[in-house]
Amino acid sequence: MVKASAPGKCILFGEHAVVYGQPALACSINQRMTIELEREETFDTWRLDGRTFNPQKHPHIEYIRSQITTEDQDPLHIRIRGTIPKASGLGSSAALSVALCGALQQLRNDPLDQTQASAISHQAEASAQGGRASPLDTATSSFGGFVVLSDTIEDGLDFIETRAMDVDGKTFQWHLHTFEATIPEDVFLVVGNTGVHGSTSAMVEQVATLIREHPERKVELDTIGAIARRGIHALQEGNMEAVGQAMTENHIVLRSLGVSSPDLERLIRAAAPSSLGVKLTGAGGGGCMIALTRRPEETVGAIEMEGGRAFITHFNEPGLKIERLM
Ligand code: PMV
Repeated sequence: MVKASAPGKCILFGEHAVVYGQPALACSINQRMTIELEREETFDTWRLDGRTFNPQKHPHIEYIRSQITTEDQDPLHIRIRGTIPKASGLGSSAALSVALCGALQQLRNDPLDQTQASAISHQAEASAQGGRASPLDTATSSFGGFVVLSDTIEDGLDFIETRAMDVDGKTFQWHLHTFEATIPEDVFLVVGNTGVHGSTSAMVEQVATLIREHPERKVELDTIGAIARRGIHALQEGNMEAVGQAMTENHIVLRSLGVSSPDLERLIRAAAPSSLGVKLTGAGGGGCMIALTRRPEETVGAIEMEGGRAFITHFNEPGLKIERLM
């Protein structure tokens, strides 16, 4: 039996504006997906958590299985465990794909390869979604720490790789970067979940309609890009007050673009007094918010008083890793 795990992610800066070429920063969180693989002795088909594996129901698993094959091709039993809430913008599906890549690499006795896991998981997510998918979730889950995605190679960051993908005869390109940050030990991130499912494609479409009807509002996306670059710089310097300030400013612009929701606003208002900065994270319209805080228990309590579910996470959570078997 082999076992690998990979983290979820949240977006610290730049959601929505990243669709228009601005930089976005994601970081790994301490909630993970774990995959256990075992040779299937009893049945002659692949199994998933005790049932016959259905490739139509799990196209991303099917894609990865076809890409990272084992020598003997014997059927396997896949067990999925995890603490990342589904469909909440925290990258649970990407983390599952990345962890599966790691477990299959281990089964082949290959060294753990985060770059390969990032690339194959990105392709898997794209093929499962029938076309375009940003590589931000899968790269953050593979490498861990901070990942910046942008249309241009950003100055002052460590370039990781350029990922390209052909969709309907058009080539899309993304540049991925990371950076070192000295985060004070007394600063935490609290993630608050509204429990309401926000649809990423609907929210992206809503912003597209707004920009189409009011082209002058594109300046707000440029503003988010400028805030993101400032926030990244503040993180590199370890100036957490400035990071928090940039997060709150980013949220104000997202709210003005219409992607917040009454539930998100309630949790954000509750978290603000105990935090350095607060914002929605991901597509919005529901889903999650994040707070940067030195008083994490107090922030969690305030979010839960308003009916949200919350957890505390650190920065620099590790990416794809092998789990030792008990
Ligand atoms: O739904 P999430 O949390 O993975 O975030 C989507 C981020 C957007 O910028 C809104 C869309 C995108 O493809 O980048």
